[in-house]
Amino acid sequence: MTNKLKYFIGNWKMFGDFSSFKIIYKINQYIYKEKNFNKKKIVLCVPNTLIHFFQKKLKSKLISLGAQNCHYHETYGPFTGSVSASMLKKIGAEYIILGHSENRLEGETNQIKKKKIISALNQKLHVIFCIGETYKEKSKGKTFSILRKQIKSSLNKKFIKNKIILAYEPVWSIGTNKIPKKSVLQNTIKFIKKDFRKIFKTNKSPKVLYGGSVNHQSIGLLSSISEIDGFLIGSASQSAKKFIDIVKNYYK
Ligand code: 13P
Repeated sequence: MTNKLKYFIGNWKMFGDFSSFKIIYKINQYIYKEKNFNKKKIVLCVPNTLIHFFQKKLKSKLISLGAQNCHYHETYGPFTGSVSASMLKKIGAEYIILGHSENRLEGETNQIKKKKIISALNQKLHVIFCIGETYKEKSKGKTFSILRKQIKSSLNKKFIKNKIILAYEPVWSIGTNKIPKKSVLQNTIKFIKKDFRKIFKTNKSPKVLYGGSVNHQSIGLLSSISEIDGFLIGSASQSAKKFIDIVKNYYK
């Protein structure tokens, strides 16, 4: 058992309404009853429509709320249908997921990601920046070069001193119940940390989460990889029981 802080970050994607507060309530009750919870950080990144409502209702500080994306323009502007980092900060978001592969599929480029990261960091949001290869890229043995490219083109030496958390999410693992082999995942996480230090000439490793089919079963194997600093959890975070089971099974 390690002493390092581990993140359990839920990504609700486009799911949830006001009644979903019961999920957060149950997770909060669980944390409250657990002793020694100070080595685990729970964050739920929910739809923008729910952040303010949940933030007002959630009187506890044990769970932080986050958003899942923002516009690259930091404050206000003529961008129909968009929401900026400053608007999210004002309604109670503390964290933000950026660069998710589902946004990349909608045409988000590395340059746009970079601008979004800068806006979010300027607004003092904790950024969870997603990287990961597709199945095709993996089959061609391109995983490391793709990861390097995503890190290099979206991050910037000037702002890496801010708290950016990387989330390694192999695209082929999202929602498929498939996870990488232990040794492969271990090497990939090590590679990300090492390459990050090399690219930005720093001796400080970033926090690196793993995301993709994290559930009560896969967490057993994932727990044994000490290089992983936490998890980005999709569908299992939309159920209090499934989410709590992941956190519970992590102890084993
Ligand atoms: P699943 O946990 O549903 O595979 O989703 C992972 C994900 O996309 C988290 O950002």
